[in-house]
Amino acid sequence: MKTTKIALIGTGLVGSSYAFAVLNQGLANELVLIDINKEKTIGDAMDLNHGIPFSSPMHIYAGDYSDCKDADLIVITAGANQKPGETRLDLVHKNAKIFKSIISEILKSGFDGLFLVATNPVDILSFLTIKYSAFPSYRVIGSGTVLDTARLRYLLGDVYKVNSQNVHAYIIGEHGDTELPVWSHAYIGTRPISDYVKAGAGPTQDELDRIFTNVRDAAYHIINSKGATYYGIAMGLARITRAILRNENSVLTVSTLLRGEYGLNDICLGVPAIVNRSGIREVIELNLGEQELQKLRYSAEILTQQLNTVL
Ligand code: 2OP
Repeated sequence: MKTTKIALIGTGLVGSSYAFAVLNQGLANELVLIDINKEKTIGDAMDLNHGIPFSSPMHIYAGDYSDCKDADLIVITAGANQKPGETRLDLVHKNAKIFKSIISEILKSGFDGLFLVATNPVDILSFLTIKYSAFPSYRVIGSGTVLDTARLRYLLGDVYKVNSQNVHAYIIGEHGDTELPVWSHAYIGTRPISDYVKAGAGPTQDELDRIFTNVRDAAYHIINSKGATYYGIAMGLARITRAILRNENSVLTVSTLLRGEYGLNDICLGVPAIVNRSGIREVIELNLGEQELQKLRYSAEILTQQLNTVL
């Protein structure tokens, strides 16, 4: 059987929650933990290994950048995270600098797999990962709006009283303040949400808009109440990992480089894309409403402005 190896860079709250999800879901044969705080990775590896008898065999250990050489997937969660009152974009300078050195260390190992980026601002850092690594863009995947999409599906599932797995609705754009919901392509099972609104069944459009606001601002609420978000994003990263390593061809709203799709170029942002063992197989171009398209372009504009401050 072919073995699969994940190298995790950054074992803070997001990284260690992700490692726990990988172990619980049996997503790889080998998981190496890398962090500037080596002592922390040693402790995490021991702690996780004690869970192996309750899961499936997996080789989990504390390592260093040389261990990236034969990894299939490198997941980067390292970097500063938002403090109360900070936006994701406020982190850009700090984390761009950290990424430059991380990617250079990874490349020295001879790594030749896929990158999965989670550090914020994730769209900008996904772009910089492509730039610093010079890898083809399909081999760099940002967590994008996977989590925002999950938050939306959860809340809609709750109001319509339908399993959120049967809610088909997407958040696209920046993973951050300018993201947008795609109401024109939102379904409960097979029925468009716009039909429910017209029929006066379930929430009104105003109520749906409030649900979106809760999705957009969810991280601020969580950070205010417990200092950081990590379980949701960790499960989102595990979901993307599964799509990659099991070659699923799953549709996920990941951050990827746009090359003409939606009339946008040279920017990474969250859009539905088909994800498999080779990375991003293809970007799905939704037929957006005029307003949705405008909002998406605005989101891209804000990200481009931010990107230009670090290029
Ligand atoms: C989140 O949305 C902070 O980006 C992180 O939970």
